Amino acid sequence: MSERDTPHGEVVESTDGYGAGALRLDRGHIEGTGGLPQRFENPGLPPHVPRMADLDEGAAKRAEKQVATLFGLSSVATVVFVLAYFLIDSEHVVYLPGFGDTNLYNVVLGVCLAVALLGVGVGAVHWAKTLMPDTEMVEERHPQRASDADRQRTVDNLMEGGETSQITRRPLIKYSLIGSLALFPLGLVLPLVGGLGPLPKDALSKTIWKKGDRLIRDPEHTPIRADQVTIGSVYHVLPASILESDHVLEDKAKSAVLLMRLNPEDIKVKKELDWGHEGIVAYSKICTHVGCPVGLYEQQTHHLLCPCHQSTFDVTEDCKVIFGPAKRPLPQLQITVDSEGYLVADAPFHEAVGPSFWERGHA
Ligand code: FES
Repeated sequence: MSERDTPHGEVVESTDGYGAGALRLDRGHIEGTGGLPQRFENPGLPPHVPRMADLDEGAAKRAEKQVATLFGLSSVATVVFVLAYFLIDSEHVVYLPGFGDTNLYNVVLGVCLAVALLGVGVGAVHWAKTLMPDTEMVEERHPQRASDADRQRTVDNLMEGGETSQITRRPLIKYSLIGSLALFPLGLVLPLVGGLGPLPKDALSKTIWKKGDRLIRDPEHTPIRADQVTIGSVYHVLPASILESDHVLEDKAKSAVLLMRLNPEDIKVKKELDWGHEGIVAYSKICTHVGCPVGLYEQQTHHLLCPCHQSTFDVTEDCKVIFGPAKRPLPQLQITVDSEGYLVADAPFHEAVGPSFWERGHA
């Protein structure tokens, strides 16, 4: 049995198995609950506080000018963006204090785009906060569902449209229409896909290393004699051909190499010994996980560590992965010495450097 009455001051008895008379409603409070009200009053809206621009026409005018200035700034930035897009050489490099050598084209486009977006955004926020009405409005909800009659009328209209257009009776039109609508998006998608730029072709698979390329120190760009490399030392190395490259940054990002000298007796893999020179070995510096530079060499353990996600490679075992998310060893560069005793590449990399990608096996 259950007994309920108005919310105020009556007894509610329950026979739900938890004990009759467990609750007592007493003038809007529940006994034994610390006096929580049975219903919360609607606190209503806080009193409206007029803003300066609501009271003073001068302040409103100032706010108007500020908003217009921000929108104007955005327009100017967009115009400069368009001019820069056509006028600035995309290879032009300038020195910026604090940033070093920087591509001017990227900097100008980036700054202009940021100012254009910020100008519109900040202007709109300022406009809304100072001039647009800020009084709270309440709109009562009403049912969203149409009446049954309206719903039926809509269905009838659709059916009638199908009948009068004869699409249901003429399958040739129906299927040719479906075909043309299915193919139509290709006209929109193709220019977008084609505009993504040229296919990379073998750019991901090849570096500029070639047979006979001298190993040069980075950043000094000086060649390295084999007898200068002492056991335990490590060099950051580039191919000498990078000095003539037209795309220095791209080529450097792929062809950076670490050169180390180990005691040949510590090297456990014959191929590693054969591709090195008297214990001097060279490995790609580009992590096979997602391409960070593997820059930390621990000469006691002969471990190379990638600082990004801690992949660790064992140099004594052909740089196999001994820890971390990388899935394959660092590629080794085959090296030898030339007639003057300088270290040179004996062949290009035998495999693609850097992170794995789907066509890697076809390089
Ligand atoms: Fe080297 Fe992730 S990039 S571990």
